[in-house]
Amino acid sequence: MAKKIRVTETVLRDAHQSLLATRMRIEEMLPILPKLNQVGFNSLECWGGATFDSCLRFLGEDPWERLRTLRREMPDARLQMLFRGQNMLGYRHYADDVLEEFVQKSVENGIDVIRIFDALNDIRNLQTAINSAKKASRDGKKPEVQVAISYTTGEVFTTEYYVEYAKKIQAAGADSICIKDMAALLTPYKTEELVKALKANVDLPIDLHTHYTSGLASMCLLKGIEAGADIIDTAMSPLALGTSHAPTESMVAALQGTEYDTGLDLPLLMEIREYFMGLRKKYLDEGLIDQKMLATDAGALIYQVPGGMLSNLLSQLKQAGKEELLQEVLLEVPRVRKDAGFPPLVTPSSQIVGTQAVFNVLMGERYKTVTKEFKGVVRGEYGQTPVPIDPEFRKKIIGDAEPIDCRPADLLAPELDKLRKECAEWAESEEDVLSYAQFGQVAVKFFEKRRNQKLGIDGKHGDAEKQIHPV
Ligand code: CO
Repeated sequence: MAKKIRVTETVLRDAHQSLLATRMRIEEMLPILPKLNQVGFNSLECWGGATFDSCLRFLGEDPWERLRTLRREMPDARLQMLFRGQNMLGYRHYADDVLEEFVQKSVENGIDVIRIFDALNDIRNLQTAINSAKKASRDGKKPEVQVAISYTTGEVFTTEYYVEYAKKIQAAGADSICIKDMAALLTPYKTEELVKALKANVDLPIDLHTHYTSGLASMCLLKGIEAGADIIDTAMSPLALGTSHAPTESMVAALQGTEYDTGLDLPLLMEIREYFMGLRKKYLDEGLIDQKMLATDAGALIYQVPGGMLSNLLSQLKQAGKEELLQEVLLEVPRVRKDAGFPPLVTPSSQIVGTQAVFNVLMGERYKTVTKEFKGVVRGEYGQTPVPIDPEFRKKIIGDAEPIDCRPADLLAPELDKLRKECAEWAESEEDVLSYAQFGQVAVKFFEKRRNQKLGIDGKHGDAEKQIHPV
């Protein structure tokens, strides 16, 4: 029986987040949107992740305006976003009322597929996001809720561990499951085993998301497809490979004429390719794409730490003039991770574990200096770790502070009204309040610039308070 494999195109989000620090602008997307709209992808991942921060901080774009533009220009495509459950896109846990509003506004402004994940794979951190998405709708249409498993390796991350988590995801009400291998740790045969096990134990479509960093992505996707995966994440070839994804056109060609045929139109994809080749050249010329990002690096498979984390560790050691200690730090990382209850190494736990490992080695004594964030993980501020933390170790790290074992957001009072008041001077919409909630002063600076532009004020010389500005 023919099974059509569905394709999620990532060129408008993950591909440029992975290769050029999320700097693709809406003006660069606009000319090609009508063609992307025609392809018939399962979805186009185009919002959330780092795009929101990048819009406000670097590109001077309103992320909500970007979403509305994408919606308008691609009326037939399903638009997909990514966010970190209770963290949304910011760097702390938010109260439920803020999260509910964020999900509703995302859907209202154009999102059809909501992909959420938690760095610790603690389903409690995703439950409010799932419930909110189930309540949300645009013109009577409900979004698809996809929960992503943060894939990692290590002694506790057995196939059974993932099956158990997948069962919780299904019970929580998700519509589909994504295996999210952001660090490119999957190998083809591990993928096969994992997908088979998930398909045997849950009834939801499985989406496979893996990066090309270690050179294995196409093989993993193919093995995953043969094992029963329903959806694959790919990127248009000019922004594929390296730290990005497997190339869309190649995967479509590989499956053509087989029982897994995607049904996508290769000549149309070639037209789209031509457009993105122009952007690729521009990014390379401008130095936005670093050649290093395009190189294959199987280091992640050897060190079992994501590529980004490895370069962070190296730069921290360089700053201290102790580059020669890299091997020691790489041996310390798994020990710290074990002490911390085996968090998957994904943002933010990868930075937290990595920095603590560097301190442990540099100080010559383990946990002589403990970062605030590491204390937070040990205390339970981020949620439940995959393995419970040894009470004795916890006491050593947090002293008499009360450990948190409930869902961390249960300790947060509603905060939407407070946030509304805080940014009342600047916010022109409820969407602005949500930008402010997540990016604070970065959002305020953006609002300020936007206001100055509207008033025709030169930001540098104007005095908004006194309404004096050069003309
Ligand atoms: Co990714």
